Amino acid sequence: MPIKYHKLSQTFHLYNNEISYIFKILKNNQLGHLYYGKAIRDKDNYDYLLETYSRGMSVCTFENDSSFSLDHIKQEYPTYGTGDMHHPAIDITLENGSHIVNFVYKQHEIIKGKPSLENLPATYVEDNNESTTLKITLYDDVIETYLILSYTIYENRNVITRNAYIKNNGKQKIVINQIMSMSLDLPDKDYEMIELTGAWARERYVKNRKLEHGIQSIYSLRGCSSNAFNPFIALKREHCDEYQGEVLGFSLVYSGNFLAQVDVDTYNVSRVSMGIHPHCFGLELNKNEDFQTPEVVIVYSDNGLNGMSQTYHSLYQERLCRGKYRDLERPILINNWEATYFDFDEDKILEIAKKAKELGIELFVLDDGWFGKRNDDHRGLGDWYPNLNKIPSGISGLSRKINDLGMKFGLWVELEMVNKDSDLYREHPEYTLETPQRHSSHGRNQYVLDFSNDEVVQYIYKMISKVIEESHIDYIKWDMNRCMSEVYSSCHNSHEQGKVMHEYILGVYHLYDKLTKKFPNILFESCSSGGARFDPGMLYYAPQCWTSDNTDAIERLKIQYGTSFVYPLSSMGSHVSAVPNHQICRNTTLDTRAHVAYFGSFGYELDITKLSIDKQNMVKQQVEFMKAYRRLIQFGTFYRLKSPFEDNETIWMVVSKDKSQALVGYYRTLQEINVGYRRIKLLGLNKNYSYHVSLLDQNFYGDELMNVGLITSDSSSSDHNDEGDFVSRIYVLKAN
Ligand code: DGJ
Repeated sequence: MPIKYHKLSQTFHLYNNEISYIFKILKNNQLGHLYYGKAIRDKDNYDYLLETYSRGMSVCTFENDSSFSLDHIKQEYPTYGTGDMHHPAIDITLENGSHIVNFVYKQHEIIKGKPSLENLPATYVEDNNESTTLKITLYDDVIETYLILSYTIYENRNVITRNAYIKNNGKQKIVINQIMSMSLDLPDKDYEMIELTGAWARERYVKNRKLEHGIQSIYSLRGCSSNAFNPFIALKREHCDEYQGEVLGFSLVYSGNFLAQVDVDTYNVSRVSMGIHPHCFGLELNKNEDFQTPEVVIVYSDNGLNGMSQTYHSLYQERLCRGKYRDLERPILINNWEATYFDFDEDKILEIAKKAKELGIELFVLDDGWFGKRNDDHRGLGDWYPNLNKIPSGISGLSRKINDLGMKFGLWVELEMVNKDSDLYREHPEYTLETPQRHSSHGRNQYVLDFSNDEVVQYIYKMISKVIEESHIDYIKWDMNRCMSEVYSSCHNSHEQGKVMHEYILGVYHLYDKLTKKFPNILFESCSSGGARFDPGMLYYAPQCWTSDNTDAIERLKIQYGTSFVYPLSSMGSHVSAVPNHQICRNTTLDTRAHVAYFGSFGYELDITKLSIDKQNMVKQQVEFMKAYRRLIQFGTFYRLKSPFEDNETIWMVVSKDKSQALVGYYRTLQEINVGYRRIKLLGLNKNYSYHVSLLDQNFYGDELMNVGLITSDSSSSDHNDEGDFVSRIYVLKAN
């Protein structure tokens, strides 16, 4: 049993071979945190870790005991106002206006496996022996309210998941102003906080900052997890790098507003908390009403950042993603967006599809513009029926024609949005989120449907189900192209408005749930103006996500490198597009574009009918290469070796599970001249295997490649070089 309860000391120890998480019931019956980190042996008492000292000016719980102060005791789920002076995990307004609560230990249960969360995405197990869950029930007898904290530890992964659940059992109405999914008090502040930040077309850049006293936080108030900050932070020790060192990762399984915060006090205790952002959140709970927070996935690694990422990759790939495509190699697709934008007709689509089929591409995706009067981005959203002027055969006819070519067919949708110029809006203006007496701002000329209203969700479900049922659809790209503003739901009364943004997200999950259950053979790819909703919540329904609208190979090095901190390669939609690149006007070779795009769920996004015969032949070879190696790429172990944020070179590699094959992607951004010799130490190989290395056409043992390194020097180490900028290479390693 990897969760032990030591009755005498009232201590809980969650552990497996790699990690330990320890906390106890304090003498005031609240929960005190003792340790989280590398596994330590189980003992029946760790009270020395409490470190209760008497400190001047502290507020103390018991008279005659000046050492028991919640201001200094590290806690599991702190509240404000009874001694603790820091940011709490939960904040409640009582009927009398007070915010003072006191949740004390009532009971606990230890169960095999991992219960699912109602209406929310979460990691899961397939066999109850994979994990153990501890549920601790706390109770506040003044408000007669239960608070249940759940902890799951996986047997063979360095993972602990946490969530909180609250239920009002009493007569008094309470208002939850804030309820975080977790809080964790770490005993020092010697960490750098890593965050994935950015904006449209430059998502998930890696940023580090040293923890300082006070608050450091990232958040989203955009109604989606956002491209500004991803719902993930990591705390790494100063000398931790990709290869070695200690790091803790925190990832929220949620797609809406979030807060991830580290509050460092002047005794250097670092309080990490994560959950739904309290701003605009407010939840009235009457008798028998409850609330479930999303889950946080906490990962520990003492194998550097690669170790942390690999734990997230395998967990998210194997126990967060679901459905038929979870374990399947992803089809190589061609998407018409950058080829045609809105300007296409059926003939043009069929022309691209035929050529794609000739080149070995497996799936054709019809992007925006196929429905209603959608000839530009001012109209049509909400009218989910085909525009027969553009596609006379309709989606049903077109999908059949594409199937007849021997290709799968996929469709773009943006189900949460509406244009004012649409039949849906004309019929149901009340279906949008709009604040009474206030102007509504638009985003890309579109407005947000009220997905907190089940009637709206059902309406959209029926409309889109009809299209799917009448056609042969194998793939859906679910887009979402604006942030939420002036949020107000006309189907909720005034005191319910604080839950609308969360219920909107539940509505999105509900629609995903219905569609993925009804159409289990469809591969879903989530998207939000590229990667503004690249989060674990989405992965639960859609095993891949369009990583960014920026398809430039050199920009993608940073975007894909940062994304890989948490998300597996199989989840990253990555396409070869035209040059000059449509976002950044850069020219790169077709090789370089493919060499970057291979490391993800691969596809094309350009008018291949306009490519020269030579280029078309290259595409054919690229498709063959990807078919040969996609299992390795999408399901192997990924290592980042050299960061595009630090250097002119980017290097990463992926190794098959049995270590018999590996691919190394090498990219040099700018040409250099007469520079030093270069080699890079590889990772994850079998030291005793002899590998044949393509490009060098030589054999090396795994220990040579990992300890001496792979020689990557080229003619730029001489005084004459004609390779140019944006050079890339793929080394294929095969065990003899
Ligand atoms: C934004 C997406 O990221 C693009 O790939 C494309 O689907 C457009 N929306 C279509 O409007």
